[in-house]
Amino acid sequence: MSQRPGSSAIDASTRLCALFGLPVVHSASPAMHNAAFIALGLNWRYLAFQVAPNDLCAAIEGARAMNFAGVNLTVPHKLAAVDMMDELDASAKMFGAVNTIRFKCSIGSIRAVGFNTDADAIAASLSEDLKLKLPGARVLLLGAGGAGRTAALKLASENVAELFLVNRTRSKALGIAQEIKRQFHSVKIQVGYPVGRVDLVMNATSLGLRPADASPLDEKKFSLRHASAVYDMIYCPSQTRLLARAIKAGCKTANGLGMLLYQGARAFEIWTGKSAPLNVMRKALEHAVQSP
Ligand code: ATR
Repeated sequence: MSQRPGSSAIDASTRLCALFGLPVVHSASPAMHNAAFIALGLNWRYLAFQVAPNDLCAAIEGARAMNFAGVNLTVPHKLAAVDMMDELDASAKMFGAVNTIRFKCSIGSIRAVGFNTDADAIAASLSEDLKLKLPGARVLLLGAGGAGRTAALKLASENVAELFLVNRTRSKALGIAQEIKRQFHSVKIQVGYPVGRVDLVMNATSLGLRPADASPLDEKKFSLRHASAVYDMIYCPSQTRLLARAIKAGCKTANGLGMLLYQGARAFEIWTGKSAPLNVMRKALEHAVQSP
């Protein structure tokens, strides 16, 4: 049977990459990476597996044992994975969260190396999709899990002026605030909702992934009329309750598709050693979210 140009049949030499998360059924990552593999004529495939937190270690060990090329991690695994790595790249050390694993062959063994490709992707997407200039900005960040922690530290490293952290579990937000105070002296950081206007509200919680989810923002404590722009890391659904409210309030908005693209492009390069075909990946993502 003939193959599509650039694609190859799955055979004994096919390399595998995968996404581990809970939930993962919504993910557009397989569409994005498989399109990139085809575009570059690589006999590689990308799969998605629903993995519960208690099974994460076994899943990573399984992928290592079966010689996977790499793994992406999403909700809720990015923090827990840090302690499961043999090595951490500088990006994972700096942001304390892992969203990309590369399995590296070293004499007689395979080592799991953890990376964080989310941080640079957040800055790239905010700049491209919202035309936002981070230095000097006032930002309200919702969420203090793996993605929230990465966003907080990245925003601080980009010299935002003020950062307000809100999280269901307040102690996690307090921990991140302490860390930012230690590392970034010029950033004013507070746990709780801001008074006055902000340049950006960013959702880094998983609230919004399911249709029945409430908005992560308590509008009794902060009105979207006081926000210039709202970014939701969730891209499926493409318009969360939060983004719908933000559009109504007249804010500039973007969902997390740009972040997904840039973190995926970097992961692709880490695994394959080749330049990521950005346009192919962007088109595949857009197609996947339009026809889920
Ligand atoms: P990720 O690695 O993708 O950030 P995570 O570490 O599990 O995933 O973080 C999920 C985030 O969504 C956390 O900020 C979490 O709040 P807690 O730190 O209190 O757990 C937030 N979150 C998840 N479900 C939530 C809910 N029902 N209400 C409010 N926040 C929620």
